[in-house]
Amino acid sequence: MLKVNYIGRQQTVCFAGYFAWEGTAMNKKQIAFIICVNDDEEFAECMYYLERLYVPEGYSTDIISIQNAPSMAGGYNAAMKEVGTKLEILNDEFQHVHKYNPIEHIKTRIKTPESIVKKLKRYGYETSIENMLRYINDIAGVRLICSFTSDIYRLAEMIGNQSDLKVLAIKDYIKKPKESGYKSYHMLVSVPIFLSDSVVDTKVEIQIRTIAMDFWASLEHKIYYKFEGDAPDYISRELQECAQMVSELDDKMLSLNEAIQACLEVENTPVPVEPVKEKQEQEKKQEDIVEHILGKES
Ligand code: GTP
Ligand code: MG
Repeated sequence: MLKVNYIGRQQTVCFAGYFAWEGTAMNKKQIAFIICVNDDEEFAECMYYLERLYVPEGYSTDIISIQNAPSMAGGYNAAMKEVGTKLEILNDEFQHVHKYNPIEHIKTRIKTPESIVKKLKRYGYETSIENMLRYINDIAGVRLICSFTSDIYRLAEMIGNQSDLKVLAIKDYIKKPKESGYKSYHMLVSVPIFLSDSVVDTKVEIQIRTIAMDFWASLEHKIYYKFEGDAPDYISRELQECAQMVSELDDKMLSLNEAIQACLEVENTPVPVEPVKEKQEQEKKQEDIVEHILGKES
């Protein structure tokens, strides 16, 4: 895929891409221009040049404009930052109270215009802001990477308890992994964004997974990307086997951690100490008895 950036006079017409689809497959003979617009004059200028472009024989073009894109992206950016900050605060508080960090690290990302358009096409919807708001749930994404599977559910509960976040949907791919072998816990939440003149509920997709699950998902994604989603069967099978190994590793690490915690608890259990005062009184009594007996004898 070749990506071309067209910079308008006032940084408004901001993006053009080279790729298109036929159904879900990429059509290598069609050039799609995805244009995020918030200035009509600049858009008209962009169209002027695009319409005059030399298109090689056998190729066709597809022009997709997304209106008011920069301000939409701003809303999603704010939502993503808000959720990210909220989670960092929860993590710090947890560290303070329990001396333990459930979150290893947090990654955030905003979906690119080309993946938004690609997904709308895949779902069979027209490219429009209304469809994007309604059907694309993962424009703003936050990924939480933690150490153990138990941390995932602990975090999910903490997120669910946040009064200003609304949990819209949950997909537990840990209890029910995807056919690919993918494991992760997905929460779709909405967060109110306070703009200068209104409050907008904005959707954010939170993915929670262990380091091991993330390791698998990142590599699998890279491999599939190379095959453009059409990997040979034996590769898919081997990836499923790797997912199984990763799950076993997670289980082993979790039980190891539990064993370590149990050892530490035994080590830290205080040995009952005889109170000093009681001991002194006991010794005094014994001395009195001895004196009494000796006194009688002498
Ligand atoms: P999408 O159309 O893929 O977004 O599916 P969906 O809307 O049903 O969402 P779902 O909750 O199933 O998962 C979407 C996200 O999870 C993707 O954008 C990936 O980040 C991740 N994901 C889902 N399945 C896989 C998989 O098999 N491999 C990898 N590497 N990631 C996956
Ligand atoms: Mg999704």
